[in-house]
Amino acid sequence: MSAAPAAPARTLLAVDSLRAGYGNIEVLHEVSIALEERTLCAIVGANGAGKTTLLMALAGVLPTRGGHVRFDGDEITRLPSHARVARGLVLVPEGRRMLPGMSVEENLQVAASVRGAEGFGRIEGLFDRFPILRTRRNLPAGSLSGGEQQMLAIARALAIGPKALLLDEPSMGLAPKLVDEIFSIVADERARGTSILLVEQNARRALALADHAYVMERGRVVLTGTGAELATHRDVVAAYLGG
Ligand SMILES: Nc1ncnc2c1ncn2[C@@H]1O[C@H](COP(=O)(O)OP(=O)(O)O)[C@@H](O)[C@H]1O
Ligand SMILES: [Mg+2]
Repeated sequence: MSAAPAAPARTLLAVDSLRAGYGNIEVLHEVSIALEERTLCAIVGANGAGKTTLLMALAGVLPTRGGHVRFDGDEITRLPSHARVARGLVLVPEGRRMLPGMSVEENLQVAASVRGAEGFGRIEGLFDRFPILRTRRNLPAGSLSGGEQQMLAIARALAIGPKALLLDEPSMGLAPKLVDEIFSIVADERARGTSILLVEQNARRALALADHAYVMERGRVVLTGTGAELATHRDVVAAYLGG
């Protein structure tokens, strides 16, 4: 007798033929990707490939020009960004935007307020997971180091209790030890059941963690497979893994 088959993965975020751009320039050309529930999906690609544009379109920060986005069973293509956040689709933007004059704790409170008492109740738990932020809790966010700011940016998103996290280059510009720390936080969050769409120039690390991955070039998806498949794919090794 064989064991019962595992339940099929459910697609949490389905992106179908998405188009977006700036002014007269179309940057995303019919991009289709899927993020399965409780998995980590990586998007790798050179600078300028359109990765940030894709995440901004998914977060509702940038209007789309065609295609569809479904999240958790509903069409969200035309929803404003705050409504996407309320549904649990949360972007940690490139460059860790935060409120620099407010304290670390106030930054977390502003994010948590989206969920009211439930959100505020998460803050101490986040300090347990990010002890360095607890030691900095009363300092202005703008005074933190780059690595600490990235942790705060992620902690802010977690204060909302996301179903899906959109992470844009979380390891960018960080020293190797902090890169390790950020990747282990991301892995831990996936293990807790959050679905993660991870954009990274550190393709090696991202693919090592990814259940599924896509390669983007010039606004298009040009390759897809499991993280392991892409990590050994000849073209990926040559272009992104220094092979
Ligand atoms: N605000 C903007 N206005 C006009 N063009 C932009 C803007 N942001 C990005 N672009 C262009 O869109 C393309 C994709 O950029 P981006 O999505 O930032 O790529 P990636 O994140 O993969 O490096 C690039 O050609 C870039 O110059
Ligand atoms: Mg980018």
